[in-house]
Amino acid sequence: MEFWHIRGGKRLTGACPIQGSKNASLPILAASIVCPARTELTEVPRLRDVDAALRILRHLGCRAEQQGNAVYIDSGLCSRSTIPHALMEEMRSSVIFLGALIARCGEARMSLPGGCQLGKRPIDLHLAALRQLGAEIEQNGDEIVCRGGRLRGTRIALPFPSVGATENVMLAACAAEGETTLCGAAREPEITALQDYLRAMGAHIRGAGTERIVIEGMEPTGRVCARIPPDRIVAATMACAAAATGGDVELRGVDVQQFSAVVHFLNRAGCDIISRKRSLRILAPSRLRAVGEILTAPFPGFPTDAQPVLMAALLRSRGKTRITETIFENRFRQVPELCRLGADIRVIDRVAEIRGVERLHGATLTAGDLRGGAAMILAGLAAEGETLVRDKGHITRGYEALDQRLRELGADVEMKN
Ligand code: EPZ
Repeated sequence: MEFWHIRGGKRLTGACPIQGSKNASLPILAASIVCPARTELTEVPRLRDVDAALRILRHLGCRAEQQGNAVYIDSGLCSRSTIPHALMEEMRSSVIFLGALIARCGEARMSLPGGCQLGKRPIDLHLAALRQLGAEIEQNGDEIVCRGGRLRGTRIALPFPSVGATENVMLAACAAEGETTLCGAAREPEITALQDYLRAMGAHIRGAGTERIVIEGMEPTGRVCARIPPDRIVAATMACAAAATGGDVELRGVDVQQFSAVVHFLNRAGCDIISRKRSLRILAPSRLRAVGEILTAPFPGFPTDAQPVLMAALLRSRGKTRITETIFENRFRQVPELCRLGADIRVIDRVAEIRGVERLHGATLTAGDLRGGAAMILAGLAAEGETLVRDKGHITRGYEALDQRLRELGADVEMKN
């Protein structure tokens, strides 16, 4: 159990470097086994989820280690195609190894990743798309067994722009004979980062960032050096921390375009935003304005992962905000915990209605998921007195040294485990 002690009421000020993207790192780590290659990655964040992915790579027979924010992988010796349940359950997104194993080994055996705090998280779209490529997939209970057979390029249309399903198709299609066209693809920046990595590995792939991606096989280069882009959700989190505390914070090394939907609402809430090529400065008023209606949506819409942290920033705003969560069926778990601080939030189905209050007071909260936990910390920063957030390691799955980053900006935060 990790304990986050926060003494609220301090404005955040100063400059903040933004870590590498968790959601770009994880599919790239899986992609490293698509063909034998030596991979060197920089700006990889130090996270529980990255540790879990490296453990899977080592289990599969690769050399995989992280030194600081660099990761070195040699997938030449990848010899296994089975991932045991114990490794699968550590990280839900380990399903991304499915497409990579089918491409490399022609088969894969793993347990279904299962649901998580956000909802059922089915993988029906992944399996349907991989079957269209020619993978023979059986589901026995909660285990899936895939025999790649001969993968043949084809046209696949996703009924929903699933990020994970898009990534799994990109990886498997690298080994397919002929051209694969993926329509209805996810457009998140992490998809473009994965395409850049695969190209450096020798894949003929184009279209990432649009809803149509074309993959035409691979001529392995055997060696890849890649830099992980900044984490747009961590950037959004730190921007919301500044907004929650009436602060003045400059985010460094960010691509503002990647979280412009969040910046748009912070601006509407009364923050002055100064954005340059690779930095963003947020100057927040002591009290934000409510922003009306927010709808989460696939990129470039408002990101579901930023919904809890923007909610936290708006708890003391003047007026009413309604957030509709369209992506996950259970992503308001942070609400009852935030209400223990004195927040006024009502949830009906997929809509959370936030009525801003003048003041929040400290309390003891329990984190239930990664972004909900971060939202509780942000709310604690805006509350008077002491807040304790108890967390079973959700927050450190996605945030590298969040306590230190916040202290560097003047927050009174300590994390003990
Ligand atoms: C990725 O999850 C991210 N995780 C999530 O971030 C993010 O919230 C999500 O994309 C949406 O942007 C990683 O990249 C590791 P989806 P993923 O497939 O790929 C349904 C975080 O906090 N669906 O786009 O699992 C699914 O149930 C995490 O960093 C199906 O129904 O997301 C969900 O409701 C949380 N069938 C919706 O689509 C499928 O086969 C979005 O899922 C696949 C998905």
